[in-house]
Amino acid sequence: MKKILSVLLLLALVMSMFAGCAAKVEAPVEEDVVIEEPAAETLVVGVSLPTQREERWVRDKVAMEAYAAEMGIELKVQVADADQAQQAQQVENLLTQGIDVLILAPHDASASAELIKKANAEGVKVISYDRLVTGTHLLDYYLSFDNEKVGALQGNYFVENAQPGNIMLFAGAPTDNNASLFFAGAMSVIQPKIDDGTYTVLGGSDFTQVATDNWVPANAQNRASNILTANPDATISGVLAPNDGTAGGIIEAFKAAKVVLPVITGQDSEIAAIKRIKGGDQSMTIFKDTRELAKAAIDMAISIYAGETVATNGLVDNGVFEVPSVLLEPKVVTQGNFQEMLINSGYIQESDLN
Ligand code: BGC
Repeated sequence: MKKILSVLLLLALVMSMFAGCAAKVEAPVEEDVVIEEPAAETLVVGVSLPTQREERWVRDKVAMEAYAAEMGIELKVQVADADQAQQAQQVENLLTQGIDVLILAPHDASASAELIKKANAEGVKVISYDRLVTGTHLLDYYLSFDNEKVGALQGNYFVENAQPGNIMLFAGAPTDNNASLFFAGAMSVIQPKIDDGTYTVLGGSDFTQVATDNWVPANAQNRASNILTANPDATISGVLAPNDGTAGGIIEAFKAAKVVLPVITGQDSEIAAIKRIKGGDQSMTIFKDTRELAKAAIDMAISIYAGETVATNGLVDNGVFEVPSVLLEPKVVTQGNFQEMLINSGYIQESDLN
């Protein structure tokens, strides 16, 4: 019995040795083993735009998407159709989805303070994009153009080109903080010429009287028509139009009334406006390079996410505090320089103007 047992033991030992060998041979070769690196976290940026009605907002979106893709950033873009309730809903959705930074171009400056509060509660930093959110100290940064300067450039062009006589004044949407900045900038130059009798304003000159609800061109067109109807014998030498959309509407009103077109300002360098400038119907526009603004917004989001200090070049009062701001330079575009300014810089194509 003992003998049998020891033979069995020996057998087991030898088998286990072989088993060991076999196991060694069959072990997966090392190159088959993939050691997974933990994936690098992708920055997720939420973008809430107020509209795509004006061409410029389409350009902002396109430029942001292209640059974010280049930088390997995930962008979640929402567009509200000039509607605050819709924008609020969209921002809430973005916050629920989990974003790291929010780029917000508010439809309604003061109502959007509530959205900043919500983002802040989620620990999401906010960049107020192009338009300032007012009435909140929780806003992190403002990125825009120098909007008072936009107005001053329009005003300077106006007083240098509109002959003494009757003028009309228009402003943008009362819900958009930019609209009052543009108007204040323009009036800083035009008001002294009203005060000294150079110009006579038809149709009122208070911001509330001249504002254009929601920036809708048809609203400006109707107001221009009404003023022309009320003053059938008046020659109008100049019209302050806050942007290209409203300028287009006002020009239609003048054409419908069959009166001589005045000096008329604009803003945004929309293709339709450049066509009008080329053809002599509109006098000037402002170039705000939305490619630069969009890129600056993404770069700012990257810095915020990395915990770096964001370089700013100004402070803008939002009614509650001076918001650290980055303001880009607006430029005047006329018949004489649109080629160099817009076509040569690739902002619009020559073929767009056909
Ligand atoms: C923008 C303008 C634009 C207007 C209407 C403003 O806040 O700065 O570029 O024309 O909104 O959308």
